[in-house]
Amino acid sequence: MKTEHKKNLPVTNTIIKIAKPAAYVTLLLLTYTLGYFSSSTSSELDSFRVKNQCANPIPPENVRQTLINRIFNGVSPFTNFPPPHAAEKLRRSKEIKGWGSNGPVFERLIRKVKPRIIVEVGTFLGASTLHMAEVTQRIGLQTQILCIDDFRGWAGFRDDFKYIEILNGDVWLYYHFLQNIATFNRTGSVLPLPFTTVSALTKLCELGVWPDLVEIDAGHDFLSAWSDINWGFQILRPGGVIFGHDYFNGADNRGVGRAVDLFARIHNFKVEVDGEHWVIYSTYIQ
Ligand SMILES: C[S@@+](CC[C@H](N)C(=O)[O-])C[C@H]1O[C@@H](n2cnc3c(N)ncnc32)[C@H](O)[C@@H]1O
Repeated sequence: MKTEHKKNLPVTNTIIKIAKPAAYVTLLLLTYTLGYFSSSTSSELDSFRVKNQCANPIPPENVRQTLINRIFNGVSPFTNFPPPHAAEKLRRSKEIKGWGSNGPVFERLIRKVKPRIIVEVGTFLGASTLHMAEVTQRIGLQTQILCIDDFRGWAGFRDDFKYIEILNGDVWLYYHFLQNIATFNRTGSVLPLPFTTVSALTKLCELGVWPDLVEIDAGHDFLSAWSDINWGFQILRPGGVIFGHDYFNGADNRGVGRAVDLFARIHNFKVEVDGEHWVIYSTYIQ
């Protein structure tokens, strides 16, 4: 047996000699391939992420005046409102059209977070804004609500809102929003930022405005929602909450839901669903 074993040794050694480097090479190739795929996937996704470092936070009590100074040349948008050419056409309505704007999620999150600064991304006529303003006042908070909207609505929205004037192709959604805020006496706690969402959110980041609560309800296609969620999260103060409407909306093959889910997966967050709303806590709060 011993002799036989010895006789086979050179063959075994040769096999080991060939097999060992082959195994190393295979392992190396496997590692390289896996590395290549994982790095290309993450670097591709990286291109879609927002990576700006926002300015240091300014105190919440300075936010309103800072924005008035830096964006409106020191004059509040409510000063001398309405202008004479618009005054007679604006109606003072107590009923304001919105979508899920009075849902219980608003009060639940406001009670939990006790926000000094809320950023609303997508405001329209101000139904959800006014609801949040009412809740914050009722529970005794001193909250500023910053409303980001280009106040263009969407192409063709006047089919359902014929009373909103159009002058030289310019819809008067902004004036109607201002009128609604004035009608409900909320001009001191609400400030509009009448720009595109990314333009306004990047400005807030640059100025160091760090909201405690961000509500997303603007474009419902995937790319718009993705951009708004990423920018909204970028300015959110640590521990704050970001939430939004239309998690189940079918537009763009559930564009909002897909953006929320992808965002949560990348950051390892849980998505909480509350009626039609989605909620993401930046850190867990009781
Ligand atoms: C569904 S409405 C908001 C409704 C409001 N949150 C409510 O509950 O009453 C969507 C709003 O987002 C605005 N919007 C959509 N895309 C935008 C963009 N890229 N920049 C600025 N505003 C935008 C539209 O003008 C519209 O007023």
